[in-house]
Amino acid sequence: MPTETVYGLAADASNARAVAAVYEAKGRPSFNPLIAHVADIAMARRIARFDARAEALAARFWPGPLTLVLPAADTGAVCDLARAGLDTVAVRAPAHPLAHALVEAVGGPVVAPSANRSGRPSPTTLADAMDETGAATAAALDGGPCEIGLESTVVALLDEPRLLRPGSVTRAEIEAVVGPLAEAEADAKRSPGRLTRHYAPNAPVRLEAEGAGPGEAYLAFGPPPAGERVWTLSATRDLAEAAANLFAFLRAADRSGASGIAIAPIPEEGLGEAINDRLRRAAGFVG
Ligand code: TXA
Ligand code: MG
Repeated sequence: MPTETVYGLAADASNARAVAAVYEAKGRPSFNPLIAHVADIAMARRIARFDARAEALAARFWPGPLTLVLPAADTGAVCDLARAGLDTVAVRAPAHPLAHALVEAVGGPVVAPSANRSGRPSPTTLADAMDETGAATAAALDGGPCEIGLESTVVALLDEPRLLRPGSVTRAEIEAVVGPLAEAEADAKRSPGRLTRHYAPNAPVRLEAEGAGPGEAYLAFGPPPAGERVWTLSATRDLAEAAANLFAFLRAADRSGASGIAIAPIPEEGLGEAINDRLRRAAGFVG
């Protein structure tokens, strides 16, 4: 999907399976949360809670290259996996007519990280985008070279306004609307998952478990063992399927009243690295 900033790798934000395929195509080392692209502010208000500052910034800069990080409202419209389990959501209304038309046609938010593979520059032409992640796409829209070529400015409005990523909407332009911007903490810049609470179940999580202990729920990977309170992330050991199921099954296991959640070993390869990153967070080993 072309946007005015860079080409994005787009997926229906409500479809965890499609979102998992996006992470897989990018080869992301962790589930860095994705930006939900909306057609207009009305669609944005359905997925995020707008305060007066958010309303003012959207009125001034949308459609355009400004992303707002806000408390999530309807968490089904932008699935847990797209938000990396956070209770916040990043939203922007792109100005590019093709991006706008695509979101309108889908009728709901579309997540789109930059279409590069992880760690590489963002593509600004369709040819570059196809080189990076084109093999994973079902369809591609050619909008010509991107007008901006630099990713959107990201501003969080959770406590004080905070600049998470500088972009083509300048600090001064934003400060003219909402006042002084705080800096992202060094750590939060590297890992937005640490900016606010990330999802962790109430029940203790035990990793690399070959089966459930007494009272525990079990998340299997591969053919599931018999027993109650067993959820199978993927019977065929498909990592994309496991990623799509991960957050929903953690919640279901947590709700089951189990004394703990035991989770099968997941190979540390491809999407498995990202799944394990989220699992280690859920188990409390990371930030
Ligand atoms: O210009 C752009 O924003 C492009 C085009 C395609 O729209 N997209 C883009 O997406 O740059 P991506 O995924 O490459 O970068 C999204 C940034 C990341 O730095 C991510 O950490 C941050 O937004 N982000 C997303 N959701 C967040 C959240 N809930 N809290 C904090 N940061 C978040
Ligand atoms: Mg990017």
